[in-house]
Amino acid sequence: MRGRALAVVRRLFDLQAASIWQDLRPALGVVGGTLVDAGCGASPYRRLVPRDTTYIGLDVERASEEFGYDIADVRRFGADGSWPVDDGAADVVLSTETLEHVPDPSAFLAEAFRVLRPGGQLMLTVPFAARWHYVPRDYWRFTPSALTMLLEGVGFGDVFITARGNERTVACYKLLALLLPAAMPQREPGRTSMAPLAALVAAPLALALAIAGNLSLRGSAGDDCLGYTVTAARPTEPLVGPQ
Ligand SMILES: C[S@@+](CC[C@H](N)C(=O)[O-])C[C@H]1O[C@@H](n2cnc3c(N)ncnc32)[C@H](O)[C@@H]1O
Repeated sequence: MRGRALAVVRRLFDLQAASIWQDLRPALGVVGGTLVDAGCGASPYRRLVPRDTTYIGLDVERASEEFGYDIADVRRFGADGSWPVDDGAADVVLSTETLEHVPDPSAFLAEAFRVLRPGGQLMLTVPFAARWHYVPRDYWRFTPSALTMLLEGVGFGDVFITARGNERTVACYKLLALLLPAAMPQREPGRTSMAPLAALVAAPLALALAIAGNLSLRGSAGDDCLGYTVTAARPTEPLVGPQ
């Protein structure tokens, strides 16, 4: 119950998480079989997956020390980037906000293709308007052109890309990044400061921006967006080129 309430608060102030939740909710709610979550972190979207679906979380060995994620029952990628999942074993591969941390995105997507059964679905999200994070392990920002090229390059078909949010969402997101540190100041023992007063001003403004940002997600998506949500399918028949 507490975890659920915290997740709701997180989504109110974290517009990336809110927009991903909004996009993935309908699709994840109806998946079945086996779902592989690649770069699962704290598995924030697992609760959208039906309980009778087999969930396999994958992450890097150093997820705890470098990214602060420490959850049980996670399988580890190989040192060479290989996935500990059999060929064709997955009905769905989910990967949220991870591809930008992968040095070789094409090899990662080729592994997603390998573990999916023919007809299986990839659901991928990437940030676009996001700060450089988990430095130095943040390597890329992807455009729709790059995503299509990479996905088709490893064999995926039916690539469908939607932008998350629009310029209003991005404006709220950037202003929230400025205001949230003032709204939630760190206590420094023994020091008096103007921080409580600043928090009193910043907190209601941050709340107003968070609400405006969430409302903007109901509007149409734009080229200036928070990020992209992508679906793609492993074709049921191998693609045959011209003879
Ligand atoms: C920003 S977090 C996203 C976590 C989670 N998917 C989410 O949406 O909250 C990035 C994730 O990528 C993982 N990661 C980092 N380097 C990676 C790599 N080379 N290959 C696969 N995953 C990686 C991290 O351990 C972390 O779980």
